[in-house]
Amino acid sequence: MTAPLIMVLNGPNLNMLGTREPAIYGTGTLDELETLCAETAEGLGLSIECRQSNMEGELIGWVQEARAHAAGLIINPAGYSHTSIALMDALSVLEIPVIEVHLSNIHRREAFRHHSYVSRAATGVICGLGFAGYRLALIALSDILEEEEQ
Ligand code: DQA
Repeated sequence: MTAPLIMVLNGPNLNMLGTREPAIYGTGTLDELETLCAETAEGLGLSIECRQSNMEGELIGWVQEARAHAAGLIINPAGYSHTSIALMDALSVLEIPVIEVHLSNIHRREAFRHHSYVSRAATGVICGLGFAGYRLALIALSDILEEEEQ
């Protein structure tokens, strides 16, 4: 059996991880985050594709692609979480499990970060756990996919 594909999408400014507000987002880079995801996925018998974009339309295109190709989706929509009805709409069409991840605890931060449009379209949400949030999202997806198989 081929390993189910999980898409990991990171939104705007996450290419700056490591140098961007390290007190909030940590010192690890996007490369390191994607390596952690790849290693975790391998251990769980999942295949993975990680992408990052600073553009809303590109992220929406990838979400639409996931509909045809992926078994599950992890997304950190970054700033678009709080603004993008279009991204929420794209995610709402998906029939695969979606986990929304934020590195920081958005509920401890400015009020404008407390609401995420994307959460309405997510199966689950993880925030405030840094890179570990992505690892936990992969474990959750692996459990959900196993349950679906039974
Ligand atoms: C973020 C939180 C968002 O509010 C912010 O705009 C980001 C990153 C996080 O991972 O904590 O860019 O999604």
